[in-house]
Amino acid sequence: MFFSKKKQNEIDMSRLPEHIGVIMDGNGRWAKKRGLPRSAGHSAGADALKKIVTEANKLGIKYITVYAFSTENWKRPKEEVDYLMSLLLDYLRNAEKTLAGEDVVIRAIGSRKELSQEIRDQIVKTEEFTKNNKGIVMNIALNYGGREEITNAAKNICKEVQEGKIKIEDINDKMFSQYLYTENQPDVDLLIRTSGEQRLSNFMLWQVSYAEMWFTHKLWPDFKPADLHRAIIDFQNRGRRFGGV
Ligand code: FPP
Repeated sequence: MFFSKKKQNEIDMSRLPEHIGVIMDGNGRWAKKRGLPRSAGHSAGADALKKIVTEANKLGIKYITVYAFSTENWKRPKEEVDYLMSLLLDYLRNAEKTLAGEDVVIRAIGSRKELSQEIRDQIVKTEEFTKNNKGIVMNIALNYGGREEITNAAKNICKEVQEGKIKIEDINDKMFSQYLYTENQPDVDLLIRTSGEQRLSNFMLWQVSYAEMWFTHKLWPDFKPADLHRAIIDFQNRGRRFGGV
Protein backbone atom coordinates (compact mmCIF):
# COMPACT_ATOMS: atom_id res chain seq x y z
CA MET A 1 0.00 0.00 0.00
CA PHE A 2 2.78 2.37 0.90
CA PHE A 3 5.20 1.23 -1.77
CA SER A 4 4.36 0.99 -5.42
CA LYS A 5 5.27 -2.35 -6.99
CA LYS A 6 7.90 -0.65 -9.08
CA LYS A 7 9.63 0.72 -6.04
CA GLN A 8 9.96 -2.71 -4.42
CA ASN A 9 11.59 -4.14 -7.51
CA GLU A 10 14.08 -1.39 -8.06
CA ILE A 11 17.19 -0.31 -6.23
CA ASP A 12 16.72 2.85 -4.19
CA MET A 13 19.92 4.68 -5.09
CA SER A 14 19.67 6.87 -2.02
CA ARG A 15 19.91 3.92 0.39
CA LEU A 16 22.67 1.75 -0.98
CA PRO A 17 24.66 -0.47 1.37
CA GLU A 18 27.98 1.26 1.84
CA HIS A 19 30.01 -1.90 2.31
CA ILE A 20 29.21 -5.32 0.83
CA GLY A 21 31.00 -8.49 1.90
CA VAL A 22 30.99 -11.55 -0.35
CA ILE A 23 31.76 -15.17 0.47
CA MET A 24 32.25 -16.54 -3.02
CA ASP A 25 31.38 -20.18 -2.43
CA GLY A 26 30.68 -23.06 -4.80
CA ASN A 27 33.44 -22.89 -7.41
CA GLY A 28 34.36 -26.53 -6.85
CA ARG A 29 30.76 -27.75 -7.17
CA TRP A 30 30.26 -25.64 -10.29
CA ALA A 31 33.23 -27.37 -11.92
CA LYS A 32 32.22 -30.84 -10.73
CA LYS A 33 28.75 -30.46 -12.24
CA ARG A 34 30.44 -29.88 -15.59
CA GLY A 35 33.00 -32.66 -15.22
CA LEU A 36 35.77 -30.06 -15.04
CA PRO A 37 38.73 -29.77 -12.64
CA ARG A 38 38.20 -27.54 -9.58
CA SER A 39 40.65 -25.04 -11.07
CA ALA A 40 38.14 -24.36 -13.88
CA GLY A 41 35.61 -23.41 -11.21
CA HIS A 42 38.02 -20.95 -9.62
CA SER A 43 38.83 -19.46 -12.99
CA ALA A 44 35.12 -19.00 -13.76
CA GLY A 45 34.79 -17.55 -10.25
CA ALA A 46 37.42 -14.94 -11.00
CA ASP A 47 35.50 -13.94 -14.16
CA ALA A 48 32.27 -13.65 -12.18
CA LEU A 49 34.05 -11.48 -9.65
CA LYS A 50 35.20 -8.96 -12.27
CA LYS A 51 31.61 -8.49 -13.45
CA ILE A 52 30.29 -8.07 -9.91
CA VAL A 53 32.92 -5.52 -8.91
CA THR A 54 32.32 -3.57 -12.11
CA GLU A 55 28.58 -3.56 -11.44
CA ALA A 56 28.96 -2.62 -7.77
CA ASN A 57 31.20 0.26 -8.82
CA LYS A 58 28.67 1.43 -11.42
CA LEU A 59 25.92 1.38 -8.81
CA GLY A 60 28.01 3.56 -6.52
CA ILE A 61 28.80 1.04 -3.78
CA LYS A 62 31.77 2.40 -1.83
CA TYR A 63 33.38 -0.79 -0.49
CA ILE A 64 33.33 -4.46 -1.40
CA THR A 65 35.28 -7.16 0.43
CA VAL A 66 35.63 -10.56 -1.20
CA TYR A 67 36.82 -13.75 0.48
CA ALA A 68 39.43 -15.07 -1.92
CA PHE A 69 41.61 -17.25 0.32
CA SER A 70 41.13 -18.01 4.00
CA THR A 71 43.76 -18.86 6.60
CA GLU A 72 42.23 -22.36 6.50
CA ASN A 73 42.46 -22.79 2.73
CA TRP A 74 46.12 -23.92 2.99
CA LYS A 75 44.67 -27.31 3.97
CA ARG A 76 43.54 -27.87 0.37
CA PRO A 77 45.65 -30.02 -1.98
CA LYS A 78 48.88 -28.24 -2.96
CA GLU A 79 47.85 -28.22 -6.60
CA GLU A 80 44.66 -26.28 -5.81
CA VAL A 81 46.45 -23.84 -3.48
CA ASP A 82 49.06 -23.20 -6.19
CA TYR A 83 46.34 -22.60 -8.76
CA LEU A 84 44.46 -20.17 -6.53
CA MET A 85 47.69 -18.28 -5.83
CA SER A 86 48.51 -18.02 -9.54
CA LEU A 87 44.97 -16.80 -10.23
CA LEU A 88 45.31 -14.15 -7.54
CA LEU A 89 48.67 -13.06 -8.86
CA ASP A 90 47.21 -12.70 -12.36
CA TYR A 91 44.25 -10.80 -10.99
CA LEU A 92 46.46 -8.33 -9.16
CA ARG A 93 48.78 -7.94 -12.16
CA ASN A 94 45.97 -7.38 -14.62
CA ALA A 95 44.08 -5.12 -12.30
CA GLU A 96 45.85 -2.15 -13.83
CA LYS A 97 44.48 -2.96 -17.27
CA THR A 98 41.06 -4.22 -16.31
CA LEU A 99 39.70 -3.21 -12.93
CA ALA A 100 41.67 0.01 -12.56
CA GLY A 101 40.08 0.98 -15.85
CA GLU A 102 36.91 0.90 -13.78
CA ASP A 103 38.60 3.18 -11.28
CA VAL A 104 38.79 0.55 -8.55
CA VAL A 105 41.02 0.94 -5.50
CA ILE A 106 42.47 -2.48 -4.71
CA ARG A 107 43.65 -3.53 -1.28
CA ALA A 108 44.62 -6.89 0.16
CA ILE A 109 43.54 -7.72 3.69
CA GLY A 110 44.89 -10.61 5.72
CA SER A 111 48.22 -11.86 6.97
CA ARG A 112 50.92 -11.34 4.36
CA LYS A 113 53.88 -13.09 5.89
CA GLU A 114 52.78 -16.57 4.76
CA LEU A 115 52.36 -15.44 1.13
CA SER A 116 55.11 -15.80 -1.48
CA GLN A 117 57.46 -12.87 -1.98
CA GLU A 118 56.12 -12.53 -5.54
CA ILE A 119 52.54 -12.07 -4.35
CA ARG A 120 53.59 -9.73 -1.55
CA ASP A 121 55.50 -7.54 -4.01
CA GLN A 122 52.58 -7.53 -6.44
CA ILE A 123 50.15 -6.54 -3.67
CA VAL A 124 52.33 -3.54 -2.82
CA LYS A 125 52.52 -2.56 -6.52
CA THR A 126 48.79 -2.94 -7.15
CA GLU A 127 47.84 -1.07 -3.99
CA GLU A 128 50.22 1.73 -4.91
CA PHE A 129 49.00 1.87 -8.52
CA THR A 130 45.31 2.03 -7.62
CA LYS A 131 45.39 4.04 -4.40
CA ASN A 132 44.36 7.35 -5.98
CA ASN A 133 41.48 5.88 -7.95
CA LYS A 134 38.12 7.37 -7.13
CA GLY A 135 35.79 4.41 -7.45
CA ILE A 136 34.90 1.47 -5.27
CA VAL A 137 37.42 0.13 -2.75
CA MET A 138 37.85 -3.59 -3.26
CA ASN A 139 39.38 -5.49 -0.36
CA ILE A 140 40.66 -8.86 -1.43
CA ALA A 141 40.70 -11.06 1.66
CA LEU A 142 43.81 -13.10 1.06
CA ASN A 143 45.17 -15.41 3.73
CA TYR A 144 42.47 -13.78 5.79
CA GLY A 145 40.85 -15.06 8.98
CA GLY A 146 38.57 -13.03 11.21
CA ARG A 147 40.05 -14.45 14.41
CA GLU A 148 43.60 -13.83 13.18
CA GLU A 149 42.62 -10.23 12.37
CA ILE A 150 41.21 -9.67 15.87
CA THR A 151 44.11 -11.33 17.71
CA ASN A 152 46.58 -9.41 15.57
CA ALA A 153 44.81 -6.15 16.48
CA ALA A 154 44.87 -7.12 20.18
CA LYS A 155 48.60 -7.84 19.99
CA ASN A 156 49.35 -4.50 18.37
CA ILE A 157 47.27 -2.66 20.96
CA CYS A 158 49.08 -4.50 23.80
CA LYS A 159 52.43 -3.54 22.27
CA GLU A 160 51.43 0.12 22.23
CA VAL A 161 50.21 -0.09 25.82
CA GLN A 162 53.54 -1.65 26.81
CA GLU A 163 55.41 1.11 25.02
CA GLY A 164 53.29 3.68 26.82
CA LYS A 165 51.77 5.04 23.58
CA ILE A 166 48.21 4.36 24.69
CA LYS A 167 46.46 3.72 27.99
CA ILE A 168 44.21 0.74 28.71
CA GLU A 169 41.36 3.19 29.37
CA ASP A 170 41.72 4.44 25.78
CA ILE A 171 40.69 1.08 24.38
CA ASN A 172 37.15 1.06 23.08
CA ASP A 173 35.14 -0.34 20.22
CA LYS A 174 35.91 2.55 17.88
CA MET A 175 39.66 2.62 18.45
CA PHE A 176 39.89 -1.19 18.32
CA SER A 177 38.48 -1.18 14.82
CA GLN A 178 41.34 1.09 13.77
CA TYR A 179 43.72 -1.82 14.38
CA LEU A 180 41.87 -4.13 11.99
CA TYR A 181 42.87 -4.59 8.35
CA THR A 182 39.81 -2.51 7.43
CA GLU A 183 40.89 0.56 9.44
CA ASN A 184 39.00 3.69 8.39
CA GLN A 185 36.39 1.69 6.52
CA PRO A 186 32.74 1.33 7.51
CA ASP A 187 31.34 -1.95 8.85
CA VAL A 188 29.81 -4.41 6.41
CA ASP A 189 26.12 -3.63 5.77
CA LEU A 190 25.26 -6.54 3.53
CA LEU A 191 26.91 -9.95 3.53
CA ILE A 192 26.31 -12.22 0.55
CA ARG A 193 27.14 -15.94 0.54
CA THR A 194 26.54 -18.15 -2.44
CA SER A 195 26.10 -21.91 -2.86
CA GLY A 196 23.48 -22.51 -0.16
CA GLU A 197 25.86 -22.58 2.81
CA GLN A 198 24.79 -20.37 5.70
CA ARG A 199 27.93 -19.84 7.76
CA LEU A 200 30.40 -17.05 8.38
CA SER A 201 33.49 -19.26 8.03
CA ASN A 202 35.71 -16.82 9.94
CA PHE A 203 34.92 -13.92 7.58
CA MET A 204 34.94 -10.34 8.89
CA LEU A 205 33.82 -11.40 12.37
CA TRP A 206 34.08 -7.90 13.78
CA GLN A 207 32.78 -6.01 10.77
CA VAL A 208 29.61 -8.06 10.20
CA SER A 209 28.21 -7.43 13.69
CA TYR A 210 25.15 -5.64 12.28
CA ALA A 211 25.27 -6.83 8.69
CA GLU A 212 22.18 -8.13 6.93
CA MET A 213 22.93 -11.60 5.61
CA TRP A 214 21.78 -12.70 2.20
CA PHE A 215 22.10 -16.27 0.98
CA THR A 216 21.51 -17.82 -2.41
CA HIS A 217 21.76 -21.38 -3.71
CA LYS A 218 23.49 -20.13 -6.86
CA LEU A 219 27.10 -21.24 -7.13
CA TRP A 220 29.55 -18.35 -7.27
CA PRO A 221 30.51 -18.64 -10.97
CA ASP A 222 26.77 -18.37 -11.79
CA PHE A 223 26.29 -15.24 -9.69
CA LYS A 224 25.35 -12.39 -12.03
CA PRO A 225 24.90 -8.61 -11.70
CA ALA A 226 21.12 -9.24 -11.58
CA ASP A 227 21.68 -11.34 -8.43
CA LEU A 228 23.61 -8.48 -6.87
CA HIS A 229 20.63 -6.22 -7.62
CA ARG A 230 18.30 -8.73 -5.97
CA ALA A 231 20.47 -8.84 -2.84
CA ILE A 232 20.54 -5.04 -2.60
CA ILE A 233 16.76 -4.74 -3.07
CA ASP A 234 16.16 -7.36 -0.33
CA PHE A 235 18.60 -5.48 1.89
CA GLN A 236 16.62 -2.30 1.34
CA ASN A 237 13.37 -4.04 2.28
CA ARG A 238 14.66 -5.11 5.68
CA GLY A 239 14.31 -3.04 8.85
CA ARG A 240 17.70 -2.43 10.44
CA ARG A 241 17.50 -1.44 14.08
CA PHE A 242 21.10 -1.83 15.31
CA GLY A 243 19.81 -3.01 18.68
CA GLY A 244 17.23 -0.22 18.94
CA VAL A 245 13.47 -0.53 18.45
C1 FPP B 1 35.09 -21.29 -2.48
O1 FPP B 1 34.62 -22.26 -3.37
C2 FPP B 1 35.99 -20.40 -3.16
C3 FPP B 1 37.29 -20.21 -2.84
C4 FPP B 1 37.95 -20.90 -1.73
C5 FPP B 1 38.14 -19.30 -3.61
C6 FPP B 1 37.49 -18.06 -4.13
C7 FPP B 1 38.25 -17.60 -5.30
C8 FPP B 1 37.74 -17.06 -6.42
C9 FPP B 1 36.34 -16.73 -6.63
C10 FPP B 1 38.59 -16.76 -7.59
C11 FPP B 1 39.84 -16.06 -7.32
C12 FPP B 1 39.65 -14.75 -6.67
C13 FPP B 1 40.30 -13.67 -7.06
C14 FPP B 1 40.25 -12.41 -6.26
C15 FPP B 1 41.09 -13.70 -8.29
P1 FPP B 1 34.98 -23.76 -3.09
O2 FPP B 1 36.23 -24.10 -3.80
O3 FPP B 1 35.02 -24.01 -1.62
O4 FPP B 1 33.77 -24.50 -3.74
P2 FPP B 1 33.06 -25.83 -3.24
O5 FPP B 1 32.54 -25.57 -1.86
O6 FPP B 1 31.98 -26.03 -4.24
O7 FPP B 1 34.09 -26.91 -3.28
